[in-house]
Amino acid sequence: MKKLKIADGIHMLTMNVEDILFEGIWEIANGVSLNSYIVQGEKTAIIDGVIGWDGIPETLYRDLEDIGVDPKNIDYLIVNHMEPDHSGWISNFRKIKDDFTVICTDKAAKIIASFYGEDKIRIVKEGDTLDLGKGKVLSFHPVPNVHWPDTMYTYERDTKTLFSCDMFGAFGRMEDHCFDDELTPEEIDFFESEGIRYYSNVMITFTPSLKKAIEKARQLEISTIAPGHGPVYRKNPQKIIDDYSRFSQYAEGSGKNEVTILWGSMYGMTKKAVDYVESILQREGIKYNKLQMPLESDSETVATVFKSAGIIIGAPTYEYKLFPPIAVALNEVGRKRITGKVAIRFGSYGWSGGAEKELAEIIERNNMKWDFVESVEFEGAPKDEDLVKVEEKVLEFIKKMREKVVE
Ligand SMILES: Cc1cc2nc3c(=O)[nH]c(=O)nc-3n(C[C@H](O)[C@H](O)[C@H](O)COP(=O)(O)O)c2cc1C
Ligand SMILES: [Fe+2]
Ligand SMILES: [Fe+2]
Repeated sequence: MKKLKIADGIHMLTMNVEDILFEGIWEIANGVSLNSYIVQGEKTAIIDGVIGWDGIPETLYRDLEDIGVDPKNIDYLIVNHMEPDHSGWISNFRKIKDDFTVICTDKAAKIIASFYGEDKIRIVKEGDTLDLGKGKVLSFHPVPNVHWPDTMYTYERDTKTLFSCDMFGAFGRMEDHCFDDELTPEEIDFFESEGIRYYSNVMITFTPSLKKAIEKARQLEISTIAPGHGPVYRKNPQKIIDDYSRFSQYAEGSGKNEVTILWGSMYGMTKKAVDYVESILQREGIKYNKLQMPLESDSETVATVFKSAGIIIGAPTYEYKLFPPIAVALNEVGRKRITGKVAIRFGSYGWSGGAEKELAEIIERNNMKWDFVESVEFEGAPKDEDLVKVEEKVLEFIKKMREKVVE
């Protein structure tokens, strides 16, 4: 666990977690950091305590002592969000100290009681404050359904620091650099793309609430944003607010100036058209990502489709339906509420087809509202006239997709 000073009386403890399935689902290729914050006045508060997934609190206690905090002197445990990646150590902490108060929203209180049997809880509402002494005053600002119903921001007035928990977070392990002003250009790109992965894998379903949380953050005077995952923004906190605002638009059909080819093929018939489409995209100077299914992880597929302004689906018919790995991927994308994307599908069939019908069902069932250019289906291998049609439709798709670019 790394220990960093954010300001006088404010420290961050952070650890990287790798080789886990986040939420039991997401294969996060580059890990994730878990950040915890200590605010010291005359009283001491810990915000979003983490011990990692191995559950060894002794490491945390040793780290606290290293920054001059005796765990037995912690008065308040502030739970911005009850998900166990931020709160999993409460029961252990209770074993070494019994007289601390948990501070959280009413919704979190109910969850904490059911998860950990906690009852020494002070429930806070919008604007409530906690004076820790020595000028450190915390205020609390619920942001419901930022991931879970219980979430809140904690804001420290003296240093204008927003402890935002999952909001403004990113996947990606943190190496030596944890502050935005220390990041190299490569690390800035890394955390932007890990922010996209995090938003699309974990947060996207709650986009309407995230937009409200963005507005709430904009109303606070903020010098530093200190999230529960990823870097701390002290040079330019506006950047991550703007990034999140842009991500919320990606969820609703906008995207970067790039397309994703989501494709699969059994015997290479559909692949011939995929290769041809690739040559068109190259000729037209369009940046593209190619995802061959079922070889990609759900995490990568969801993140890549999410950030793209247009989606090209190359998929044949299989047993009267859409090629299953593509159906599974699109269904996951739909469950994540990635809506409004410009799209096109083409694919091969051998006898009577059926892929198109299932595609329409998936889009409809998940209320995805994707804007499809007319599909192109061909029998067996694509003939020259099929490829001409594919080209015509792909050019139409490119025109539409360009209108959705937000960067
Ligand atoms: C397991 C399997 C199931 C298939 N099911 C259908 C089907 O239900 N309807 C159809 O028209 N063609 C069906 N076909 C034929 C394929 O759609 C056809 O071979 C197509 O060219 C495959 O394209 P690909 O090489 O890109 O996978 C099936 C082929 C396979 C191998
Ligand atoms: Fe969460
Ligand atoms: Fe989290």
